[in-house]
Amino acid sequence: MEKVLLLFRLLFLILLVPAITGIRLDSSNKQNLDALRRLGLGNIVNLPLYSDAPLSHYDFIVAGAGSAGCTLASRLSENPKWSVLLIEAGGVENWIHQVPVLAAHLQSTASNWNYRSTPQRNACWGMQEKKCALPKGKVLGGTSSINYMIYNRGNRREYDGWAAAGNPGWSYDEVLPYFLRAENAQLRGLEHSPYHNHSGPLSVEDVRHRTQIAHSYIRAAQEAGHSRVDYNGETQLGVNYVQATTQKGRRHSAFRAYIQPIRASRKNLHIVTLARVTRVLIDNATKTAYGVEFTHQGRAYRVKARKEVILSAGAFNSPQLLMLSGIGPEDNLKAIGIPIVKALPVGRRMYDHMCHFGPTFVTNTTGQTLFSASIGPPVVTDFLLGRSDTFLSSIGGVETLTFIKVPSAKTAKGLPDIELIQVGGSLASDEGTALTQGANFKAEIYEKMYKELALQQQDHFSFLIMDFNPASVGRLWLHNRNPLEWPRIDPKYFSVPADIEHLLDGIKEALRISKMPAMQAIGTRLLDKPVPGCEGHKFASDDYWRCSIRTMSYTLHHQVATCRMGPESDPTTVVNHQLKVHGMRRLRVVDISIIPRPSTGHTNAAAIMIGEKAADMIRSEWS
Ligand SMILES: Cc1cc2nc3c(=O)[nH]c(=O)nc-3n(C[C@H](O)[C@H](O)[C@H](O)COP(=O)(O)OP(=O)(O)OC[C@H]3O[C@@H](n4cnc5c(N)ncnc54)[C@H](O)[C@@H]3O)c2cc1C
Ligand SMILES: *[C@@H]1O[C@H](CO)[C@@H](O)[C@H](O)[C@H]1NC(C)=O
Ligand SMILES: *[C@@H]1O[C@H](CO)[C@@H](O)[C@H](O)[C@H]1NC(C)=O
Ligand SMILES: *[C@@H]1O[C@H](CO)[C@@H](O)[C@H](O)[C@H]1NC(C)=O
Repeated sequence: MEKVLLLFRLLFLILLVPAITGIRLDSSNKQNLDALRRLGLGNIVNLPLYSDAPLSHYDFIVAGAGSAGCTLASRLSENPKWSVLLIEAGGVENWIHQVPVLAAHLQSTASNWNYRSTPQRNACWGMQEKKCALPKGKVLGGTSSINYMIYNRGNRREYDGWAAAGNPGWSYDEVLPYFLRAENAQLRGLEHSPYHNHSGPLSVEDVRHRTQIAHSYIRAAQEAGHSRVDYNGETQLGVNYVQATTQKGRRHSAFRAYIQPIRASRKNLHIVTLARVTRVLIDNATKTAYGVEFTHQGRAYRVKARKEVILSAGAFNSPQLLMLSGIGPEDNLKAIGIPIVKALPVGRRMYDHMCHFGPTFVTNTTGQTLFSASIGPPVVTDFLLGRSDTFLSSIGGVETLTFIKVPSAKTAKGLPDIELIQVGGSLASDEGTALTQGANFKAEIYEKMYKELALQQQDHFSFLIMDFNPASVGRLWLHNRNPLEWPRIDPKYFSVPADIEHLLDGIKEALRISKMPAMQAIGTRLLDKPVPGCEGHKFASDDYWRCSIRTMSYTLHHQVATCRMGPESDPTTVVNHQLKVHGMRRLRVVDISIIPRPSTGHTNAAAIMIGEKAADMIRSEWS
């Protein structure tokens, strides 16, 4: 058995190496797909392995198999008396998804919905047509199968704020048990922490591969006054190495954690992949959801739900499905000719965590920075043989997180305003390919700022400076009735200028840490190639950075609130604290679109927590 496995792995290695280079050399998403297809990998990216012939009725239908949907379907089907149908638009994960360092490359595959924002007035000036890239996972596992695997739950005050806004059951003390129920932590030094569980389905680990730069950075941040903290524990403010949703150095998506282990034995859970839900079936007289329509391999299906229909299609597609089904803003639905079932502010609000890509710093270390060349065949072999401390287990280069407060933000005590995400690389890491394309950066950004670093294989690292609490509010709407088209998405990044000042303060803190002795000991200095379009400003002046923030705008893809949770009396909300759509029966939304405000954490752990909590609410209602 072992030998067969090894043989299989080696066979795959032969496929994987050209796949990496194939992806690397291509210059567009379409070409990448073609390259994968030529290599016979196109199908692997979206293999319809899970294709149960749908029955006519189920107790529960879950639309969308992402972080929350996989969690929910797995937990609901623990009851053998309940039948559950899980419908997913994408295919099934493969080895490429499981290699953490390839995270960015997944955005160039069919596992990404590949959305773009509308052209932005105040942000994304460095992107083609000023359109920010808004990737989302389209695969069993959803965005947890293509994300960067950072494990971060958020701050106590954040959840207490949800509860205070009329959402009983969502205070920190009430959601913590669901974070714990999900977690299988293998974190050194936290074996006895009350904030971590060691027997849940989702593996959370330290990243085994750590560079000298990260070690120096952690010391420098401490020299600058940031203490070492478990940012998933009592307090967030401080610095530490990143915690990751990996298992033995491989991606542990919601699919791998919640579906794969039970797939063979759970006969009451049916899964259909490559199937697109197009509408919720609703009895208008009683406002009751009774099923869904979906298309699969060119055929249209109607499947009925005896108990509930649950939308877990993510922050863009759950609101889209509601609107396609007649639930949404009256003006929008009228304009595109969808008869109203229930007027609700679906998609009217959207928050996100916008970042500044950079600053980048050069160091005098050698062989520490992530470059494609460091992912040579020997490292790949190590990975396939199960070693987990090589470059390949690096989660797309992310190494450390620092949670800070900044003067311009004026938030409550204890709440972090900005996160400094330190990454052992930059756009130079893959020679201006996957990362540059994934973010829709113009080629000149790479050419003028980063190309030389790649040519010289010069060690360096970068920050993503992330604003937890932006004031800018975006919006999402439908421009026609076609269920196969994209919703229009306008995040309106930086429409409130204060958001730029938060990031400016964050950049200044990163610069300050870079001057600490531990960073100076590795010769750290700011990369002084000006951002294209910002050359008119004095380099590294405040106005230069403001221009840079508008140009090197990079979202960490934490869009929330498009189906905002809150009491029915609040006209900005779509679902109540039980995640039931206001005024409707047997219809819930269970994913991060219900998060009512910009969160103070990354959103994958929260999505899984929401899935766990929803499963409990549904269980107690129907048992
Ligand atoms: C590039 C990237 C990096 C990220 N990095 C991190 C990180 O490091 N840490 C972190 O915590 N968060 C990260 N995030 C965010 C996080 O992964 C997501 O917020 C989270 O996974 C969302 O979970 P969800 O259940 O709401 O939706 P999703 O996981 O997006 O699931 C929605 C699912 O529904 C399916 N679907 C949609 N429409 C239909 C339809 N009509 N019919 C059938 N199926 C449909 C989709 O294909 C998808 O599988 C990242 C996101 C991105 C894009
Ligand atoms: C840990 O996870 C398991 C499995 O989900 C769960 O049964 C247990 O209650 C959790 N422990 C804690 C302390 O939450
Ligand atoms: C649903 O019923 C309401 C009256 O209760 C009506 O105004 C509306 O047009 C109906 N919508 C559909 C889609 O039939
Ligand atoms: C890196 O720079 C520091 C500070 O200038 C110096 O002390 C150190 O010796 C240098 N290391 C190498 C490997 O060049």
